Amino acid sequence: MDLFLTCGRGTGGLPVSDSLGIVEPARSILVTGGAGYVGSHACKALAAAGYTPVVFDNFENGHDWAVRWGPGVVGDLADTVLLARTIAEHDVVAVLHFAAHAYVGESMVDPGKYYRNNVAGTISLLDAMKSAGVEKLVFSSSCATYGVPEAVPISECTPQRPVNPYGESKLCVERMLDWHGRAGTLRWIALRYFNAAGADPAGDIGEVHDPETHLLPLVIQAALGKRDAIRVFGTDYPTPDGTCVRDYIHVSDLARAHTAALDYLLRGGESAAFNLGTGRGYSVREVIEAVRRVSRRPVPVEEAPRREGDPPVLVADASKARSVLGWHPQFDTLDAIVKTAYNWHS
Ligand code: UFG
Repeated sequence: MDLFLTCGRGTGGLPVSDSLGIVEPARSILVTGGAGYVGSHACKALAAAGYTPVVFDNFENGHDWAVRWGPGVVGDLADTVLLARTIAEHDVVAVLHFAAHAYVGESMVDPGKYYRNNVAGTISLLDAMKSAGVEKLVFSSSCATYGVPEAVPISECTPQRPVNPYGESKLCVERMLDWHGRAGTLRWIALRYFNAAGADPAGDIGEVHDPETHLLPLVIQAALGKRDAIRVFGTDYPTPDGTCVRDYIHVSDLARAHTAALDYLLRGGESAAFNLGTGRGYSVREVIEAVRRVSRRPVPVEEAPRREGDPPVLVADASKARSVLGWHPQFDTLDAIVKTAYNWHS
């Protein structure tokens, strides 16, 4: 796999696919952050749909083992020149943009890091696209742009009022895309993920974060004895069992939404934002129960205080993605999602 990778930043290095004798088909898609969790699953879906994903990743959080469906370029979003060259050399027709920092807690203590990478990095990408003449972008946005909604389910018309710099950085980008669209230089889709979870059902790739902060992998680690217990952050929320409710959406379903969004843009579809969730919420305790059922192992639990900034309930109204993109999640139960994650981790 290393053969596909080439060092980029400041070296002027470019992908070595030509020297490997690989002839790329016409529909190459630049995938920033394509070595990460959602990005790598999207690459697999792109390849299955007949596209060639060209991964552009600085490998700060990405993994070289996750670059399996096309060439990879080691580079930073800030490197506009390398981005533009990569786009030109691979005849890229559109961009899927995943590369971003994504820790809510970290964003609260180091907001500059989030503005620099997520916002300024996207400015660099848009500049590179403009100079290379590429005008179609699918952006990895988040339900974090909604902050604490007044009502659920959350539709795309729900006011976006982020409560942390991570969500703010995603909203800044959405607004930037909108102005570029109005200027006539871009058509874009923003996909607002709810809680990405699970792993590739074939076991090729899965979720690995360092540090890990997400609920499902932590519960699985507790079931596998890799951590003492799962700490439940808050048991006094105004929810049926007192713990937070989230809409867990399988990462392969998210990946398929990207190919659907890309097809839509390539067919001439208008710029738009879409929520991606199942429309069904599960509490922290329900997730723990699902892991117990799937793993048939005990999961030690510790009750802990609320985590700052956690909204009590986030559930998507994803009907717009269904009707406009024809996207339907295939993993529609929590157990089905947990099974793929458990298989990956164990
Ligand atoms: N939780 C625990 N214990 C843990 C970890 C999480 O109880 O050890 C709880 C959280 O408090 C929350 C739920 O499990 O109620 C889900 O937490 P995650 O950290 O897995 O996910 P979040 O809902 O906090 O975050 C997700 C995405 C973010 C995005 C956010 C939007 O991971 O990128 O949704 O709200 F910003």
